[in-house]
Amino acid sequence: MQSSHEHADPILEFRHITKGFGGPPVLDGIDLTVRRGDTTVILGPSGAGKSVMLKLMIGLLRPDAGEIIFDGTRIDQHSERDLGDVRRRIGFLFQHGALFDSMTVLENVAFPLREHTDLDTAARRARVRETLALLGVDDLIDRLPAELSGGQQKRVALARSVVLRPECMLYDEPTTGLDPIRSDVVARLIAMLRRELNPTSVVVTHDIALAFKVADHVLLLRRGSIYLAGPPEVFESSQDPVVRSFLDGRATVDDLHDADPGAAA
Ligand SMILES: Nc1ncnc2c1ncn2[C@@H]1O[C@H](COP(=O)(O)OP(=O)(O)OP(=O)(O)O)[C@@H](O)[C@H]1O
Ligand SMILES: [Mg+2]
Repeated sequence: MQSSHEHADPILEFRHITKGFGGPPVLDGIDLTVRRGDTTVILGPSGAGKSVMLKLMIGLLRPDAGEIIFDGTRIDQHSERDLGDVRRRIGFLFQHGALFDSMTVLENVAFPLREHTDLDTAARRARVRETLALLGVDDLIDRLPAELSGGQQKRVALARSVVLRPECMLYDEPTTGLDPIRSDVVARLIAMLRRELNPTSVVVTHDIALAFKVADHVLLLRRGSIYLAGPPEVFESSQDPVVRSFLDGRATVDDLHDADPGAAA
């Protein structure tokens, strides 16, 4: 089966992106095309550079070389001010997506609206309530984060990242720390947001079940390069030992060696 958006135009592109932090490059000449409306899943061992890829997409990190194109415009050399416009159009669910502890759910989810829109208090509240309702947590609007379960916090964080109705959604490990049932709920929420809001999505995950539930396109990142990219079927039918061991959840000796000890802990 082919991607439903095989012929859609690209919304996000990496052209030969290289990024390091003083040592050997973490990303070494990555090319990537994300098509409008598609869901792209990035897989790879811990420390492979998955989170770095997402941060490059919204200008939280800058590449050492290469170009990043968002909706036809090169953004890798944008000023912080111009990046504000990009970040308004791209929702980001961070890997360690902490809510602001001292703010209520309402204040947390309203935060991007205060930053990026002219909506007044009543309009912000209405938009927040509508977004929380979409995720089934509107009854939590006046709670503090400490009064929520892990799964509820994830939903509220998701609400915050979609409250501006972004054209693009980036999810970094959306199911980490959740039990399998809650993980499945997150997979369904991602699918639901896609139906309701139809964003282009990029999902970084270790959760293979999630990956194959939501992906049009999958790429496996390893040792700074894209090891394999294609529709999920290409992965499922692959007999390549690296791909198989990754999908079957068995780390190879090389992967263990590659993994960042800090990140893997
Ligand atoms: N700001 C930074 N400064 C220095 N090194 C960094 C920085 N961000 C990431 N790195 C390094 O880049 C490499 C890739 O990190 P990244 O967070 O992208 O890994 P990952 O694939 O997301 O791993 P995980 O699955 O554990 O989240 C790691 O070796 C990490 O230590
Ligand atoms: Mg990461």
